[in-house]
Amino acid sequence: MHMHIRTNYSSWNITHDDFFLLGSRRDEFLFLLKFAVLAPSPFNTQPWIFRLQGSSITLSPDFRRALTVADPGYRDLFISLGCALENLLVAAEFYGFHTDVEVSGSGEDTKISVEFQRLPQAKSLPRNHLIFSIPKRYTDRGAYRPEIPDRNFLGEISRLGFSSGISVSLLGGEEAKKKVADILIPAEAKLMENPDFRKEIARYMKPNTTHSPVGMPGHVIGIPTPVSFLTPLVAPFINFKKLMARKDHDTLVQHTPVLGLLSVREDEEADWISAGRVYERIALMGEHKSIHIAPYSISAYTPRKKESLGRIFGSSSHPVLAFRLGYGREKVHHTPRFSPEDILYPSP
Ligand SMILES: Cc1cc2nc3c(=O)[nH]c(=O)nc-3n(C[C@H](O)[C@H](O)[C@H](O)COP(=O)(O)O)c2cc1C
Repeated sequence: MHMHIRTNYSSWNITHDDFFLLGSRRDEFLFLLKFAVLAPSPFNTQPWIFRLQGSSITLSPDFRRALTVADPGYRDLFISLGCALENLLVAAEFYGFHTDVEVSGSGEDTKISVEFQRLPQAKSLPRNHLIFSIPKRYTDRGAYRPEIPDRNFLGEISRLGFSSGISVSLLGGEEAKKKVADILIPAEAKLMENPDFRKEIARYMKPNTTHSPVGMPGHVIGIPTPVSFLTPLVAPFINFKKLMARKDHDTLVQHTPVLGLLSVREDEEADWISAGRVYERIALMGEHKSIHIAPYSISAYTPRKKESLGRIFGSSSHPVLAFRLGYGREKVHHTPRFSPEDILYPSP
């Protein structure tokens, strides 16, 4: 008998062809959700919950894993739902489904409904489809190589948000990068001055050997295993960002060829979700070319700080997420995940 052991990392092991062995619509949907759960989320909170109903899947926020101090307006939360949605739609396309998406409600009652229709003619499956990037993607917080990613790629990602009203602003150049770093790095340290912020995120900082399906093992920021046992314990009392400020500034200015900013027209759920779709698409398209990405949350920034960022990037709408982009140098480990079965509403 083959024993299937599920661990907190097994969601990353997907055999794409297994889909074709599945018998029921429910099993197919659970399979598609395997791709959704691999999306990035703030501190790897995975603040989503799924419902399967007939020919539709609904994605909703799970506020039990919302960060009320680090993400007071829940922008990051909805951006991450958009990332999960994008993964789901990329997978659905690959396996021959037509999809219709509808976003309704607001706040905790927001619902993203995806209606699936199987296309009569199975398409041939291109081996360079974005679906193959999903299990490879990770947030790369390390130094990037100095080469600027090719112009076509940068042009393509800067147009990704046109149809949904999301603007993708990019910049390079030492002076501009310094200006951005002078806003982001002190702002991060200032947020971490708040004991409530530190306490909140300490719950999601994990030892490298963690069995938890959520949170960030220390290895993603280069913390060795013996030290990683201490980080969750000392995190409520130490301002890591202040200690790391010099290095973080260097990483942003010296080891990042391109900085980006996502902005939205309406500062509300539907646009945050669209921004998340764009972010994830950039990450997947980049992964294909070994171009890596790391986001900087600006959700808890003052309106003034966001305005200053927008001005540097020449963006005229509401900035919601900053990021760095470039060719990665070192492989980074994945973070744990729930499996879809763990975060389903019980069937009606
Ligand atoms: C909206 C959003 C904001 C994020 N903000 C930050 C951030 O400020 N700093 C950071 O290091 N990582 C940030 N992340 C990355 C998450 O920590 C990361 O996605 C999560 O730990 C899962 O790891 P993975 O992306 O490697 O799968 C953010 C992710 C999202 C989706």
